[in-house]
Amino acid sequence: MKKRKAKKKAIRKYNRKRKERIKAKKVTASTIQKEEVKRELKISAIDEGTVIDHIPTDATFKVVEILDLENQKGIVSIATNLQSKSIGKKGIIKVGGKSLTQDEVNKIAIVAPDATVNIIKNYGVKEKIKVKTPEIIDNVVKCSNPVCITNNEQIATKFYVVKKDPLKIKCHYCERSMGKEDIEII
Ligand code: CTP
Ligand code: ZN
Repeated sequence: MKKRKAKKKAIRKYNRKRKERIKAKKVTASTIQKEEVKRELKISAIDEGTVIDHIPTDATFKVVEILDLENQKGIVSIATNLQSKSIGKKGIIKVGGKSLTQDEVNKIAIVAPDATVNIIKNYGVKEKIKVKTPEIIDNVVKCSNPVCITNNEQIATKFYVVKKDPLKIKCHYCERSMGKEDIEII
């Protein structure tokens, strides 16, 4: 009796495995298409808003901070480590229902000098803006000098851009020079 049950179980297992094998082999055009749709859906298109593209992957969350997207009411999609032909790995941020001010666009350049800002209207790219590093950076970056007045009193930081690429900035108050790697967003 026990033997028969065991045999039935073995047959069931064999059939299951066989089905799996058959399933695995059955890759049709429609399966590939479905896979592509799935990949596309990882970060879906938006109908209205802003897409920030070509962000160096490790600057993606800095852009999130700069734009204060944590407090955004609409849909915000963030993807990092995406393959990019031009910059290796890149990040993309999609913000539904938000248009950026010129000031915000400029601030993005501090951490993502090659980013593209796409204005989306009715599912189409209405405008494509290349970001531009500002001459003066107000109240975005923290001064790395612990004794700087901006770290000890309620004073907004202010930096002059000395060089754009690679970024070099100088504190208006203590004259500390800072590079890209020293940048910490307030
Ligand atoms: N996009 C989106 N929703 C839309 C239209 C576009 O999220 N309704 C996104 C795309 O996924 C892409 C970016 O906006 O990340 C720019 O779109 P498009 O100009 O069509 O793409 P590319 O030609 O690849 O852009 P680029 O030349 O700047 O690389
Ligand atoms: Zn300073």
